[in-house]
Order: sequence, then structure tokens, then C-alpha cells
Amino acid sequence: MKHWWQKATIYQIYPKSFKDSNDDGIGDLQGIIEKLDYLEELGISAIWLSPVYQSPMDDNGYDISDYEKIAECFGDMSDMDELLLEAKRRGIRIIMDLVVNHTSDEHAWFVTAKENPNSPERDFYIWRDQPNALESIFGGSAWQYDETSQQYYLHLFSKKQPDLNWENPALRQKVYDMMNFWIDKGIGGFRMDVIDMIGKAPDKGITTNGPKLHDYLKEMHQATLKDKDLLTVGETWGATPAIAKAYSNPDNHELSMVFQFEHIGLQHLDNHPKWDFTSLDVPRLKAIFSKWQIELDPTEGWNSLFWNNHDLPRVLSIWGNEMTYREKSGKAFAILLHLLRGTPYIYQGEEIGMLNYPFKADFSEIEDIESRNFIAEARQAGKQEETIIESIRKVSRDNARTPMQWDDSPQAGFSTTKPWLPVNPNYQTINVAKALADKNSLFYTYQALIKLRKEEDWLVDADYELLETSSKVFAYLRKTTDKTYLVLVNLSDETQSFTSNYTIKDTIITNTKTPQTLENLTLEPWDAFCLEVD
Ligand code: GLC
Ligand code: CA
Repeated sequence: MKHWWQKATIYQIYPKSFKDSNDDGIGDLQGIIEKLDYLEELGISAIWLSPVYQSPMDDNGYDISDYEKIAECFGDMSDMDELLLEAKRRGIRIIMDLVVNHTSDEHAWFVTAKENPNSPERDFYIWRDQPNALESIFGGSAWQYDETSQQYYLHLFSKKQPDLNWENPALRQKVYDMMNFWIDKGIGGFRMDVIDMIGKAPDKGITTNGPKLHDYLKEMHQATLKDKDLLTVGETWGATPAIAKAYSNPDNHELSMVFQFEHIGLQHLDNHPKWDFTSLDVPRLKAIFSKWQIELDPTEGWNSLFWNNHDLPRVLSIWGNEMTYREKSGKAFAILLHLLRGTPYIYQGEEIGMLNYPFKADFSEIEDIESRNFIAEARQAGKQEETIIESIRKVSRDNARTPMQWDDSPQAGFSTTKPWLPVNPNYQTINVAKALADKNSLFYTYQALIKLRKEEDWLVDADYELLETSSKVFAYLRKTTDKTYLVLVNLSDETQSFTSNYTIKDTIITNTKTPQTLENLTLEPWDAFCLEVD
């Protein structure tokens, strides 16, 4: 049986930066509604909406103070209902971001837990008399002392994001009730924030893949997702194919798929923090993608496919070519990824080739909590200012979070006032209006790939096989019982050679002209094809 999400392409919206409808410099739900026609034209099946819930915005909404209210800056529940309705009219589902590893410290549960150590809510969080060595992902100790009750609470992210205690059954039930509240509204599913951490065993120093993780997910499935064909995708940084199968094997009744980050790991040096970035190692990329394609057979699991999200730098800025081949390298990355088996995700602006932001050397433009903590720690460790800003410009999460570039008017048509993060100065060249007006733009490559995925069953069914090529060329076959498709991509600024005995039957998609033959072919920089071959 095929699920709708196996033929779907998902579009991620970071609401603060998508479209501001009331000119306060912050994107909002009415802004998204205004742009649904654009998303319908792109052809996507669902929107993954980064958090829009009530939040003090310490981590831009990933710190939730009420799961059943909308943050004032984004609108209110009637705007949310309108978005669901208007999206549905266009055949677009809404995937909500489910952030249940932690809440905000301003959530009523935590406020009560702090004020009243005898309340049931106290045990919704994780309290200890003494901290251990666990560190926060945003830097420093993962434990924060609470004067009033003289205990420490665990926060694997910022100290305004206390971790929930999943061992408490009453807490788990509250989470399931909240999920059902959203399911009853007719949403299309959930993207589950750092879901691999909910089974943590902090006293043993275990944060991810804890002993009870899969029990909780099975229980969650029974209590909420069962019998509904919803898309669920877990954010699981350390997943291996074996771990991904545990989550996504249909017989396990947990999730539809997970985001694995092994290919993203190639963005930085082995065993280094992400701030020590490095260039693209194509042979390792081939090995990683091939491993996942082969091991996650559809009877045992399902892949998700992505280059970008709100936590990552723009892929074109770190692995592509920002100048001469900006759109062409963008098409090459898109063709390479979207013809693999799995559900592809596009992050806002990726479809027009948006780039990293040239942050000022004084760091005054940095908003992101993780980046700010990194700057402070790097300075303390005596790192040179130039090295720090270089890391920020390459990998800071704010690179992906600058406002969406709609047109060449001031503030790129995102807002009429100064936005919360500055607009990239390249907006006059890179914007939606321009992309739509040019039939050869990157936008139309994405549109064609999305359409292909909806229409062609082989994208779901066909087997995958890597071809031996020179190191900068990525070539793979997708084979059904009677058809063979070749995807061939030059991931470099130089010409490359390729040869094969296959004959060309048809062109499925390309970012250049289809060659006459595959024998002794010269690939120009960033050439990419999908051909039906014999
Ligand atoms: C996830 C989110 C990230 C957030 C973190 C804490 O990794 O993608 O943006 O900061 O979880 O919720
Ligand atoms: Ca606004």
C-alpha cells in the first residue's frame, strides 16, 4: 500500500521569516495564507510549520508556553483554523512541529512545578539534588539551580527549555491529549522535535536513544496516530539505518520516517563541533546516500530527503557555487536528491536558491541563541574574532532564518518595516518574482521534480544502484522490472568525464541539454540529468 506521504514533497516554513502581513517585521499566519497560491503553484503536498504556539521566543518558538494557543506575533487560533482551511482547499496539508522533549520555563506546568514542589506537575520535569556532567547542546551545564526548591532541573537546550520527564504517565497522557487536540483540527501530521531524546536516562548520562524511547513512541501511536494516515517525521540526529528502521518499520507502529543527519555531518570536520566546517567530500556523500537507500527498503522503513532546514546553513553556500553556477548547482542538488527513494523536504527559499547571509563582523546581527552562546564560548577560549565570524557566516542557524525574498521592493516584499533579522542584500537578484518570471529558473526545476514525484510510481518503487564513476560525479540507477533510470550529476566546478554503454531513451529532467550518447561524455560543471536508459 502506498501512503500519500510517499508521493508527497513537503515544504518547511519558518513562520517568523516567511511573510509579514501586518508590518511589525515578523512573519505571521496571515502572511502564510497570502502565499498559499504560490505554494500551490510550486506543487507541494504539505507544509511543515515550525512552531507557532505561544512562546516567550527564547529559541524562536521551540520553547512552548502553551501548546493549544498561538503566539500573539503570529496571530490567533482563528488564523490557524483559517490556514488549515485555506491550505486544504488547495490540497495542502499542515504538519505541526511537536516539541515535547521540553517546554518553556513559562509553561504553566513548569511555573506550578517550581512554585509548588508537592504538585503533580513537579514530576513532569527532571529535578536532582546534585548536577552531573551532562552538557546543554547550547553550551554550558545542562542543569540549572532553582533557589526556591533548592534543586536542579535538567535542560538539554537553553535554561528556558526545561526537559519533560517522560517517565511520568500523567505527563505522557497530557502530551497525547494535546496531540489529539491538533489531530481533531485536521492537521496532516507532526514533525517531532529531537524526539530521540524523550527516552533519556540522565543519571546514566544517556540523552538520545534511551532505553524506553520506542516504548513511548508505540504508546503514543496507540493513543493518537493509530488508524490515521498522518505523516510523522522524527528529528533524530544520531540515527543509523538500523535505528531508523526501529522507528519507521510499518510493523512497529511508531513513525512514518525520521530525519537522519549523516550526510549533514559531512559539513564539518570529523569529531569536531559543527563550527569547524569543511568542503564537500563527494565520495563520502555517495557512500552515505547509497547506504541509506539500500538499507531502508520500503518494507522495513522509509527515508526522508533534505539538504536544508532552519538549523542548517544554505547548502548552495557551503557545498554549491554561490556565483557563476548558483542556479545550476541548485538544480544539480535538487535533481540528485529528489529522485532518490524517500520523502523530499524543501526549506523556504531553497526553491529560488537563497544563500547564506554576510553577517557584519561585529556580530550585531546575530539573534540565534546557539550562535550567541558559541560566540561567547569561543571568545572565552581565546579564538580569534576572524575565525569566529567565519564560522558564523558559514554555519550559524541565522543564515537560513533571514526573511524570505519575495521581490525587489524594499525588505524584499517580506515586510514594509525593518524585519527581526535583516534581509539578505542579494534580494534584488534572488527573489520569487524574478524566479517566477524566468521559465529556466531553479523554481521550475523544483516544480517539475515535485510533479514527477506525484505522478511516477517508480520514484517510490524502483531499486537503487550506485554506479562507479570518477570521484566528483554522482551517478545512480533506479530500476523497476521493466525500466531503468539514470541520474547523473557533476558535483563540481570542473568538467568531468563519464562513460557508459546504456543508450538514452528519454529525458526525464535536466539542467542542461540532453547528450546524444553516454559514451565518453564530458560533463560540464554542475551538469545534472535524469534519463530513461536501456
Ligand atoms: C531542534 C530544532 C531546533 C531547536 C531544538 C530545541 O533541533 O530543530 O531549532 O533549537 O530542537 O528545541
Ligand atoms: Ca507580522
